[in-house]
Amino acid sequence: MSEVSEQPSAWLVAIRQMAMPADTNAHGTIFGGLILSLIDQAGAIAAQSSGASKVVTVAMDKIVFHEPVHVGDLITCHARVIKRGRTSMTVCVKVESEAPSSLAKQIEPRQVTQAEVIYVQIDDHGRPLPL
Ligand SMILES: CC(C)(COP(=O)(O)OP(=O)(O)OC[C@H]1O[C@@H](n2cnc3c(N)ncnc32)[C@H](O)[C@@H]1OP(=O)(O)O)[C@@H](O)C(=O)NCCC(=O)NCCS
Repeated sequence: MSEVSEQPSAWLVAIRQMAMPADTNAHGTIFGGLILSLIDQAGAIAAQSSGASKVVTVAMDKIVFHEPVHVGDLITCHARVIKRGRTSMTVCVKVESEAPSSLAKQIEPRQVTQAEVIYVQIDDHGRPLPL
């Protein structure tokens, strides 16, 4: 039976970047694929910050796009490990979006997307490696 720890790590600001026109969908808002890519990277950074070495994504779960992201918005991905298995870590990623001008006005960012992503630590041969 695998060992599982439910002790979550602290939230980490893993990624921050500006939404650019090249990343839009047919409606002019930001393409979901960009957000998924950022989520995947942010989760991997959180897993590695919590002690994993080389990781691959095995599953993306519970992805909800709550609100659109607009061109010029600042996208911030917060991530934390919420579960550790024998070789895997589950990371919760929350994505926020805000206009850069909101920073000076201290307006709360909008939470636009949330996901849980599962990473497996692997060895040099791509096989699962105990954490
Ligand atoms: C990730 C990979 C190494 C796992 O190999 P595997 O033979 O399925 O390994 P195991 O069955 O021993 O499972 C390893 C861990 O993954 C978990 N896992 C496997 N499939 C899963 C799924 N669909 N959902 C959630 N967890 C899963 C297992 O529960 C296990 O966790 P634990 O050790 O903490 O208990 C393999 O599936 C792989 O290489 N996938 C491709 C990864 C990839 O290319 N990702 C995209 C780019 S990063």
